[in-house]
Amino acid sequence: MKNIILDVDTGIDDALAIAYAANSPELNILGITTTFGNTSVPGATRNTLDLLQVLGADDIPVFPGAEKTFAGHEPADRATWIHGENGIGEAVLPAADKQAGDMPAHDFIISAVHEHPNDMSILTTANLGNLARAIEKDPEIVQLVTDVIVMGGAVTVPGNITPYAEANIYHDAEAAQFVFQSGIPMTLVGLDVTLKTLLKRSVIDEWKEKDTLLSRSLAHMCGFYMDAYAKENPKLNGCPLHDPLTVGAAINPGFVKTKPMAVHVKTESKEKGQTIGEETENGHIKVCLDVDSGRFVSHFLKRVVS
Ligand code: BDR
Ligand code: CA
Repeated sequence: MKNIILDVDTGIDDALAIAYAANSPELNILGITTTFGNTSVPGATRNTLDLLQVLGADDIPVFPGAEKTFAGHEPADRATWIHGENGIGEAVLPAADKQAGDMPAHDFIISAVHEHPNDMSILTTANLGNLARAIEKDPEIVQLVTDVIVMGGAVTVPGNITPYAEANIYHDAEAAQFVFQSGIPMTLVGLDVTLKTLLKRSVIDEWKEKDTLLSRSLAHMCGFYMDAYAKENPKLNGCPLHDPLTVGAAINPGFVKTKPMAVHVKTESKEKGQTIGEETENGHIKVCLDVDSGRFVSHFLKRVVS
């Protein structure tokens, strides 16, 4: 079993990633850290705790992150049209009995990595502020982490939040630049590959028919998410599986094809959040450039609503 930490801004596709990971016997989720992006930090923390209870996985501890960017700025405005006011497409989950842990997210990351040296993967599906703070406080973790699998960036394709930037990188460009330059072993699962994955709209009826609390809740969330994508592209008839692909790549790296690159993040001007990849000799970031979408999506579907 692979020890992992998930770092999330739950978020509809974060919720899918959490369910996929929690239902995958290859992964041992030691804890989940939260940040802002799709919703606020308290919102992402509440959504995560509530979902874990629905999953019967509320023994997994949850640790909230900082409410400001790595450089100390207020977060950018949220895109409520894509994840809803509450971050999960206005789905209403039963309130969790469990509370979040007291430790700040970055301290949890540091202590978990030291408890499991060279036996820990960190999967991030949100901005990189928590990881940046952990590395800044304890640079030793760079050598102790097995790998970091980041949903973020757009190296060969345009962005989604701006023409240049993917949302997770844009939400804390300084944090991303700091983490990318730290030398921590990393796989970058960006829009280059996540836009090649598609969860078809027909799954909503299948999940409704299954009629469990989990399947109904995910059907509600994905209906909202797919409607938002349909406004941009009526032909899509579904939604990309951005965040779940980090989980897929952790379970089976063969789902993706990568190329080592050095990746630089622009932190200023209209290009803020742009990820520039360069194939240099010392490029240590495995940038995903292709995905076996069919195999990945069918694996995801077998697991997410078990
Ligand atoms: C990423 O941005 C967020 O809105 C999604 O949850 C995903 O992590 C996609 O660009
Ligand atoms: Ca996310």
